[in-house]
Amino acid sequence: MNDGGGDGSGYGRIGNLPDEDPTLTRVGLNTPMGELLRRYWQPVCLSAELDDLPRRIRVMGEDLVGYRDRNGRPGLLYAHCIHRGASLEFGQIDDDGIRCCYHGWYFDAEGRCLDQPAEPPGSDYKDKVRQPWYPVREYRGLVFAYMGPPDKIPDFPVFDVLERDDCDHIAYRNYTRGEIADCNWLQLQENGIDGWHTFVLHTWDRGVHNFTDAYAARPDLDFQSTGHGVQYIRDATLPNGNRFIRISEVIVPTARSIPPPTVDGTDPDSETEPARMVGWWVPVDDTHTMGFHIEMRPRGARGAAYQPTEPYVRDYVERQRRPDDWEAQVGQGPIVNHAREHLGTSDRGVVMFRRLLRDGIAAIAKDRDPPGILRNQKYPLYKIGARNQVTAPDD
Ligand code: FES
Ligand SMILES: [Fe+2]
Repeated sequence: MNDGGGDGSGYGRIGNLPDEDPTLTRVGLNTPMGELLRRYWQPVCLSAELDDLPRRIRVMGEDLVGYRDRNGRPGLLYAHCIHRGASLEFGQIDDDGIRCCYHGWYFDAEGRCLDQPAEPPGSDYKDKVRQPWYPVREYRGLVFAYMGPPDKIPDFPVFDVLERDDCDHIAYRNYTRGEIADCNWLQLQENGIDGWHTFVLHTWDRGVHNFTDAYAARPDLDFQSTGHGVQYIRDATLPNGNRFIRISEVIVPTARSIPPPTVDGTDPDSETEPARMVGWWVPVDDTHTMGFHIEMRPRGARGAAYQPTEPYVRDYVERQRRPDDWEAQVGQGPIVNHAREHLGTSDRGVVMFRRLLRDGIAAIAKDRDPPGILRNQKYPLYKIGARNQVTAPDD
């Protein structure tokens, strides 16, 4: 933002909102980012949430219903029955699909209509209609959907940092910005490449989310492109003389991998390890976002190392005294207006990530794949460099 050489008075600068560039933030169908987001598999709910009842799910402004049929197969359909619009969240789950409560049209996971009890016997009308549906895949406790053009469906990628079979995996919703965050997805995703905030926000009052004194030593930060995302390399010498290097990365468009936040910098052996989580910030619509984590933990360990798995509520004054990610990012407003920002050198990672998103949008416009899309791979794998490294002074 150009401050125009005035004295900085708010007059004309606050009331006159500069035009917001919606390119990177809007998630609707036929918007540039909406189309980019739809080219990737995105988590839409927990596997455990598809039980004996259907579940209403809103993703990228589309109203959907997830369910699991009695044979165990998950499905994701448009929420409103194509007959006359009753919501399938009130439907009845059966062996091969879900039956609308209103007149009993019965749909399978690919939207085929298997039965219409109120049509005449022998009618082939059911073969002529199809409920809108999306392909789904389950991975380590999350249900993922592909909501893009069917001919562009990519391989389903797995993440090397989650692929250890001698560990347990837990999947949970990220409630750290509320059950559903009241803001645009991008400001949450950008926080994942904002290494500097771990030195400022998370040392304001240590321990709100397991951040320790080790984050209070002023770090150096470097940023690096991975092709499918951007990494920060955070390098600090701690008061005890140990060196603490933390590498974290964001992955186009909504994923990130972060090493455990619990390092206190005292034990090089146990604290040096690769990241054990991948998280996603999935747009509900332009101004709401839901978060998911898959975390890998040593077999038999209890609880989540990264985040609380239950919603937690803090009092307003308490939030003012001990602000956390919720206050910082949801407090930016429903959609950050990039035209109002004054980016500094500390924001280099954010700038690199936005550039990668724009590259992706440009690639789609040229009918090419955006960054990180894998096709025809025997073992579609994302290699993730996120890790903690603690070394003693003589190493
Ligand atoms: S509205 Fe669904 S069967 Fe009639
Ligand atoms: Fe944070």
